[in-house]
Amino acid sequence: MSDTIKLIYNGEEHEFPVVTGSQNEKGIDIKKLRGTTGLVTLDPGFKNTGSTTSGITFLNGEQGVLRYRGYPIEQLAENASFTEVSYLLLYGELPNKEQLADFDRDLTMHTLVHEDIRNFFLAYPSKSHPMGQLLSIVSSLSTFYPESLDPNRSNEARQLTMIRLLSKFPTIVSWIHKKSVGHPIVYPKNNLDYVSNFLNMTFGQVTDDAEVDPVIASAINKLLILHGDHEQNCSTSTVKIVGSSHANLYASVSAGIAALWGPLHGGANQAVLEMLENIKNDGGNVDKWLDKAKDKNDPFRLMGFGHRVYKNFDPRATIIKKSADEVLEKLGVNDPVLEIAKKLEMAALNDDYFKSRKLFPNVDFYSGIIYRAIGFPVEMFTVLFALGRLPGWIAQWKEMRDLKTPIGRPRQIYTGETERQFVPLAQRK
Ligand code: CMC
Repeated sequence: MSDTIKLIYNGEEHEFPVVTGSQNEKGIDIKKLRGTTGLVTLDPGFKNTGSTTSGITFLNGEQGVLRYRGYPIEQLAENASFTEVSYLLLYGELPNKEQLADFDRDLTMHTLVHEDIRNFFLAYPSKSHPMGQLLSIVSSLSTFYPESLDPNRSNEARQLTMIRLLSKFPTIVSWIHKKSVGHPIVYPKNNLDYVSNFLNMTFGQVTDDAEVDPVIASAINKLLILHGDHEQNCSTSTVKIVGSSHANLYASVSAGIAALWGPLHGGANQAVLEMLENIKNDGGNVDKWLDKAKDKNDPFRLMGFGHRVYKNFDPRATIIKKSADEVLEKLGVNDPVLEIAKKLEMAALNDDYFKSRKLFPNVDFYSGIIYRAIGFPVEMFTVLFALGRLPGWIAQWKEMRDLKTPIGRPRQIYTGETERQFVPLAQRK
């Protein structure tokens, strides 16, 4: 089979190489397209455009396959800890015992956040959205670590920044939660593992440690792993495009948090719960809401449904749905929105509109039900997505820098006015 593609334009033939990935994925290498033909490509939303080669995450949307560094997501979610998976994403291999102990120790050593950051919480309005707080605090970390601004510092120094961000993130997230409920912050504890420490800072009090329920710790561990990476999605691409200008890691990740916030991306988990609540309060008539989602004159979309890449099922959603059943049962929580969610899913899966467009529940459809059963307010859901996605953002940022990726700078097809003469103000109509 040919590994080049021919393009005939203006009677001239041009040949471009076809690049093949390790899973036999193929793409046309158009690096020389503009130079040889004068043409650019036009692909709004990058539906057909590969921005990079990458060795981190493999995804086959037709078959519902997701693997980190070759390991199936199902096996990682069942057997690994979140820090093990973070190590895998960052360094390419599962850690051995000693490597994991070192990594966990490094993460523990940097959990404290500069005391001045506490002052930020005095300034935010009490009802401000946690994602707004998260992105500004993460960006502000760069002001506390000015050495991180140097794009050419040593690998060790860059590694320290990555560890700092991973370690401090759960502390920051828990403080944001404390702000929203009006409780004093709880400091990290070095004897606790990553997830237990996060849960203790979130649900413990200065007066008493939280009794971390293993059911909850295991559910959070699984959810974080499932969100760990998802190749070149909107927020990751944002992290990388910002990082491609050699902006520091804190600023790059902060931009990724902003991208994640949108309801078409990570913000969908909050939107799903709000939608399910609305359906419940409206009498639970799921058909009425399906009709709204199908109506092209109605901006309403079925939140937690559909995916740019998955066109069969989202393997993360399959795991999360099972986990939601288990967690609610083990915690003895009877949440009526779970029933609404299942009815809605069943109705949509049997509806021609959704079937013909290959719209299935995605990762966000059931995750909020678990977060709510655990006790998180709905505004915190996307922050929890960010906590899970963090190692993926960092790993992809690191790979982008290691590959010496040029600055991200798309082209365009200009459709505005052609040249015209300036009209002085007095002469304008
Ligand atoms: N409800 C109703 N119709 C939908 C939905 C939906 N949730 N999603 C897609 N469609 C329709 C859309 O109107 C279009 O119809 P038509 O062909 O008649 O114009 C068709 O399906 C294709 O949709 P699209 O918007 O062109 O697809 P996309 O790949 O650009 O968008 C998406 C993907 C995830 C943004 C979209 O499916 C959506 O808005 N879903 C709801 C929000 C959501 O759950 N987002 C979380 C995504 S998973 C977590 C993450 O990684 O971010």
